[in-house]
Amino acid sequence: MLSSVLAGALLLLGAAQPILAAKPSPGCGKAPKLITAAAATTPGLSITSGGAKRQYFVKLPANYDNNHPYRLIFTMHAVGGSGQQVSSGAGGYYNLPNLINDTTGAIYVAPTGTSGSLGIGWWNNGGSDVTLVQDLIKEVENDVCIDQNLRFSTGFSHGAAMSFILACALGKELRAVAVLSGSPQISGTCPGGTEPVAWYSQHGTRDQVLNISGGRQMRDRFIKNNGCAAKEAKEPARGEPHIKTVYECKPEYPTTFVAFDGDHTPSPKDPGASSTFSDKYTWEFFQQFK
Ligand SMILES: *[C@@H]1O[C@H](CO)[C@@H](O)[C@H](O)[C@H]1NC(C)=O
Ligand SMILES: *[C@@H]1O[C@H](CO)[C@@H](O)[C@H](O)[C@H]1NC(C)=O
Repeated sequence: MLSSVLAGALLLLGAAQPILAAKPSPGCGKAPKLITAAAATTPGLSITSGGAKRQYFVKLPANYDNNHPYRLIFTMHAVGGSGQQVSSGAGGYYNLPNLINDTTGAIYVAPTGTSGSLGIGWWNNGGSDVTLVQDLIKEVENDVCIDQNLRFSTGFSHGAAMSFILACALGKELRAVAVLSGSPQISGTCPGGTEPVAWYSQHGTRDQVLNISGGRQMRDRFIKNNGCAAKEAKEPARGEPHIKTVYECKPEYPTTFVAFDGDHTPSPKDPGASSTFSDKYTWEFFQQFK
């Protein structure tokens, strides 16, 4: 009796993630040679990956401290976009820098995809975009100070599809992903036997570009990988606010799905709301890992 009460209490507390000791990258304690404030501005930086010259942008926190192991957050663009587009403007890097203060700090990487039938995107031909991200992890972590236990990826649409494939391909190298209206097919396929990765995703019930059925498939893949108990994820009817489903999973792999009444958008708003929940939910999800 008492033990079941305790077990219930522990389940309620289940949201608190174990704090892992920081795993400082080789760039910690060194003055950066490559990545300075200029890495966030055009033309960004370039790296040779898979024999091709690829572009990326990096945003450091103000007052970057090379002894502080920061979070590393990949912010992947949608089709037709670029690293430059993600890195630009007041809401750049999916608006996360406006939510993550400089004391907590994060280092953002916004690479540019390659040309494909619909424009520049994450076509990941022959795994080339997975290789790019692996090469960027090395390049960035050798130069600046990253906590290697705190790597994340997020993106909208093609950037979400790529974040899904990164979760499949990199497994425990990533701590969590936030997949905003993605698809399980457009950046390659998720091989069988993949590892658990903490999972947040959201999708519009009326998405006419990437059907929500693909959003459910990606989510279900990680519900399985993350050992979550089956649970119905309710979806809102026309005119209703979003519905968030938090699954009960292996403790280190929280899994959350949000369905909203809307089309293909990175910044859905509830009826009457003046701002989106996407950035807040992404950071709320990522910040639980320490
Ligand atoms: C930054 O955020 C952390 C975590 O939310 C908080 O503990 C800290 O007080 C914040 N610092 C500032 C200067 O706002
Ligand atoms: C998504 O796909 C389902 C099943 O094929 C279909 O019934 C539905 O109309 C599609 N939704 C949109 C918004 O296209």
